[in-house]
Amino acid sequence: MSAEQIISMQQVRKSYKMGAEQLNVLKGIDFTVNKGEFTAILGPSGSGKSTLMNIIGCMDTLDSGSYSLNGIPIHNTKERELTKIRNHEIGFIFQNYHLIPTYTVIQNIIMPLLMRGQDRRSAEKDCGEIIEMLGLSERIHHKPSELSGGQRQRVAIARALCSNPSLLLADEPTGALDQNSGTEVLKLFKKLHEMGNTIVMITHDLNVAQWAERTVRIVDGEMFEETA
Ligand SMILES: Nc1ncnc2c1ncn2[C@@H]1O[C@H](COP(=O)(O)OP(=O)(O)O)[C@@H](O)[C@H]1O
Ligand SMILES: [Mg+2]
Repeated sequence: MSAEQIISMQQVRKSYKMGAEQLNVLKGIDFTVNKGEFTAILGPSGSGKSTLMNIIGCMDTLDSGSYSLNGIPIHNTKERELTKIRNHEIGFIFQNYHLIPTYTVIQNIIMPLLMRGQDRRSAEKDCGEIIEMLGLSERIHHKPSELSGGQRQRVAIARALCSNPSLLLADEPTGALDQNSGTEVLKLFKKLHEMGNTIVMITHDLNVAQWAERTVRIVDGEMFEETA
């Protein structure tokens, strides 16, 4: 009970209206993540992973239940406020990197800080250590198109880390990578976890989930804790 909770969900439900029919996608999810945990959400296609990710990431609202992120009651928060919470609390990592192709590596990495109103020089300074840690120092003036997939994902991870979020939220982060680059990214997640970061990683791949310290399964909109 003493651990600090980053995610606290009780009985979260979400459905989509399909004409006259209602598709119940999340059927009462209870999910808690403590600070410093590395959790994998594992489930097959269509099980509700992206729906849940959108709710965790404050990109979509829930129908009923409650959700607190780092102590903030998201279920009671207006859409307008959510953008701000999202920018401060969550570092997103996507399968397809979501980098801006016309920006250089450094411009991509500091963008969230500039959006918060920080000036370029101080943003670059703040990101320096992370860029070095991720082995991107030689690449900062390159465009994403000049990088390998693994390097692009490292840029996305650097961008996520620089805003010092309370949660790293990764959706199939190795899904577009070859085996070796995927393993490199997972090793990096493991290291970031050891450094104290809280990570939630969504995947359909058991081999990927096994890198996390804890796995929860989502099956047909219900969640089950995996017991080792
Ligand atoms: N915006 C939407 N409108 C209607 N149905 C949706 C919508 N988004 C997802 N679904 C449906 O909800 C179910 C779960 O989808 P999703 O959360 O994307 O699962 P996963 O990411 O695990 O593949 C699927 O049956 C999907 O077709
Ligand atoms: Mg999905």
